[in-house]
Amino acid sequence: MKKKTCSLITMLLCLPALVWAAGLPTSEGAASELRSWKPFTADGLHDPSNPAMVELQQPGEAMAMFPKDFGQIGNQVDWVRALEQGVIVPRTNIFPDTYIEVLDLDIIMNRTSQMALVRFPHKAHTQWLECSNCHDKIFKKKAGSTPVNMFAILMGEYCGRCHGAVAFPLTECRRCHSVPRRAFTGNVGAQKGAGKTYKPVMDQKAVGINQ
Ligand code: HEC
Ligand code: HEC
Ligand code: HEC
Repeated sequence: MKKKTCSLITMLLCLPALVWAAGLPTSEGAASELRSWKPFTADGLHDPSNPAMVELQQPGEAMAMFPKDFGQIGNQVDWVRALEQGVIVPRTNIFPDTYIEVLDLDIIMNRTSQMALVRFPHKAHTQWLECSNCHDKIFKKKAGSTPVNMFAILMGEYCGRCHGAVAFPLTECRRCHSVPRRAFTGNVGAQKGAGKTYKPVMDQKAVGINQ
């Protein structure tokens, strides 16, 4: 319990520093050249003495041709574009009666303090996930009604259930905080019409703070 309280305080203290760091220019272009994957025998996850190891395709070989995410970020693949471009064609369902629904609806979230607004794209999510993965346990089905905040996200709640675990990490502030506050003149919440189409992550324009 004591340890938990301590790390909570550390995180609270760190948030302003993170906001500050989010405003710094990055060397993202150069980082793209740093993509590299450890072989299974050296990743610390697989048993190198397992005789079946030679049968596995190495991650470097499997993923090098996939659309790029920046070096050292997650597993360095832009998975949303990999799916869009048909580079990967995952099976949509195992059971024939699973109902697949892709929803193209963006939600703009504005409780972001000095950070740019958050654009949550339903499309990029419902291409992989069912509605029930998020509704209504994690998020209510009414924009603005879930008490989302960055601290809880960093603690693994809300967006942090997946981001930092199976989806791109929470250090990529701008990928969620992607809408400059000053440039946004519409209404927050659910957006009218189809969602915005994202460029490949390598080509996305960085958004600073206080914009
Ligand atoms: C990855 C998580 C996630 C998935 C999967 C997801 N949603 Fe959502 N949904 C959200 C979030 C986040 C909000 C905004 C909640 C808030 O602001 O309190 C939202 C809001 C909504 C809203 C409210 C819009 C409004 O007008 O206020 C509806 C309706 C909705 N979702 C329907 C769906 C349907 C239908 C599916 C499946 C096809 C789905 N969602 C899948 C995260 C998700
Ligand atoms: C996976 C998406 C995601 C990422 C990545 C992300 N945020 Fe957030 N952030 C959110 C959401 C969602 C909110 C709440 C918005 C709302 O409820 O209107 C939020 C809110 C905030 C707030 C408002 C104050 C608070 O405590 O809630 C700050 C400040 C913030 N984020 C900073 C950051 C910084 C700095 C980073 C990078 C280290 C970051 N965020 C990365 C989604 C994200
Ligand atoms: C149930 C799991 C889950 C939750 C909860 C979730 N995401 Fe995601 N998100 C994903 C997955 C999976 C992807 C696709 C893989 C990737 O980009 O890493 C994704 C991708 C994204 C993208 C990239 C879209 C693109 O076109 O590149 C954004 C932005 C995003 N999420 C924002 C959010 C925000 C903001 C929240 C919280 C309001 C959230 N996500 C909650 C799983 C989730």
